[in-house]
Amino acid sequence: MNTIISASILSADLCNLERDIKRAEDAGCEYIHFDVMDGVFVNNISYGIPVFKAVSRVTKAVLDVHLMIIDPLKYVKNFADAGADIITFHYESDSDCGKCIDAIHACGRKAGVAIKPGTPATVLEPYLDKADMFLIMTVEPGFGGQEFIYDMTGKISELKKMLDERKLSTPIQVDGGINDTTAVLTAEHGAEIIVTGSYLFKAPDMRKAADNIRNNILDKKL
Ligand code: DX5
Ligand code: ZN
Repeated sequence: MNTIISASILSADLCNLERDIKRAEDAGCEYIHFDVMDGVFVNNISYGIPVFKAVSRVTKAVLDVHLMIIDPLKYVKNFADAGADIITFHYESDSDCGKCIDAIHACGRKAGVAIKPGTPATVLEPYLDKADMFLIMTVEPGFGGQEFIYDMTGKISELKKMLDERKLSTPIQVDGGINDTTAVLTAEHGAEIIVTGSYLFKAPDMRKAADNIRNNILDKKL
């Protein structure tokens, strides 16, 4: 299995964002994960399009935008124009899921659909052959540094089975509470794109932290 690490810069030093993005790139992280929170869909406000434009200027990594906002449809084009490669929105938002996927595709970008811990995988059924990625939240969205919810592994397997039955190889992303142990657990259940924030940015040696994820997954021969 080809694991991709997406570094969530929510845990970076925001006064030294360019430096921390370079650190993540040097650590071999393929994606930069950009969490947008509006204080309505989740009880926190992070950053938006001006900061995203600045990030976009300083990295060539894949820009993986995670919209935790109430009306993602309204902002798809703004993020696409600002350089997003993947735009992920929440099924639970107020925007129509199918319309959001279409709008992202109309901008020539990849569409991801995210579900919160309380939302069953079955809601994704109508979109299985439409979306380019599915994000299973392994914490309640809104904050970095939370504990991984172990019950979510069953949901990853269930979604993987739904995709396999349709012969779809759409990747499953996981986000929240991921470290070198929980990453392996999610990979064992079918996750391929691993978002990790505090584990990476708080590590004394980020390269070693990212390598631990990869090596632990490789050791399991996944
Ligand atoms: C939480 C965000 C995550 C967060 C993950 O709502 O979507 O991307 O930054 O942070 P950690 O890895 O610290 O749980
Ligand atoms: Zn996220």
